Amino acid sequence: MLVLVTGATGNIGRHVISSLLARGHRVRALARSPSSSFSSDTLSRLESVVPTSGYDDVAALDRGCAGVDAIVNAYSGKPELTLEGQLLLLRAAERAGVKRFVASSWSYDWTALQLGQHESYDPFIAFRNHVELTSEIRPIYILTGVFAEVFFAVPGHGDFTPRNHGCWDPQRRRLEIWGTGDEPWQWTTEKDAAEIAAEIVQRDDAAEGGFWRVCSGVNTLREIAATYERVRETKVDVEVMGDVAELREQAMRARRNGSRRNFWPYIGWFYQLFTVDGTWTLTRLDNEKLGVPTTTLEQFLREHPTL
Ligand SMILES: NC(=O)c1ccc[n+]([C@@H]2O[C@H](COP(=O)([O-])OP(=O)(O)OC[C@H]3O[C@@H](n4cnc5c(N)ncnc54)[C@H](OP(=O)(O)O)[C@@H]3O)[C@@H](O)[C@H]2O)c1
Repeated sequence: MLVLVTGATGNIGRHVISSLLARGHRVRALARSPSSSFSSDTLSRLESVVPTSGYDDVAALDRGCAGVDAIVNAYSGKPELTLEGQLLLLRAAERAGVKRFVASSWSYDWTALQLGQHESYDPFIAFRNHVELTSEIRPIYILTGVFAEVFFAVPGHGDFTPRNHGCWDPQRRRLEIWGTGDEPWQWTTEKDAAEIAAEIVQRDDAAEGGFWRVCSGVNTLREIAATYERVRETKVDVEVMGDVAELREQAMRARRNGSRRNFWPYIGWFYQLFTVDGTWTLTRLDNEKLGVPTTTLEQFLREHPTL
């Protein structure tokens, strides 16, 4: 297949390109600064690179979609990209007659959420509903839980540290727990997320779209701390900050005191809350059905010795 990858130089986009090439597919990349972002080796392996000035560059979207068999959208999770940018991409896909469309997601399960419950997941819900009402394309949505790179705050991959109301403080090797610490956290490495996408988009049933729930692992925070201690042979400082009711109160207060126009300063509270209280837990995992090998937490930590 010839597959268009958008957001091609990003964290997920790069891995998706590798995963598709490894499966023998041809890959076209849509990117804003391809020559400065791709290695010459990657550039030489791509079918072509379509430069774009941004998500609203419709002419570039049409050039990117022309003649491709499938699209994997790896735009970042900013609302304007997930909703407006992705809709413009979908319309270009319609004009080009493309049926296989992997939508940007790689998130927890937002299918049971209501609009307004989680600001950064609202655009996923809005996109899904609008597409159902207006398009013949049936997108694929991949739900994976939190990225391991984000949870452990790998530089350049998101920062779910206590500073942003996350759990893991990489400097102090400290884990802050809200709840009991025995709640399941579903997590996936970015490489596995890309492998999952590449495997799904090449399936015979890809044009039928739908939801896939696949993750690398499921661990409690206490298990994560114990694994870290074993792999690094060091002590993790674990502190229980409060129970789930106190976490909910913190989250609601932060939202009241903040602005939805700039939700990033408080949204970390809700990532924690909905994981700890199970609001968006992935149920009925499709790992076995898909059969993609995934990374263990121990492997991930060994592959990232500086964490
Ligand atoms: N579950 C999790 O913990 C988690 C965490 C983070 C992200 N995600 C999901 O993973 C997916 C990809 O995220 P990522 O971390 O790989 O993103 P990223 O590296 O931050 O960005 C991906 C790409 O978005 C494109 N982009 C940004 N602004 C743009 C604009 N104005 N116009 C056009 N393109 C623009 C860029 O493409 P070019 O520069 O290549 O043109 C960039 O490389 C998203 O679906 C996101 O929701 C999940």
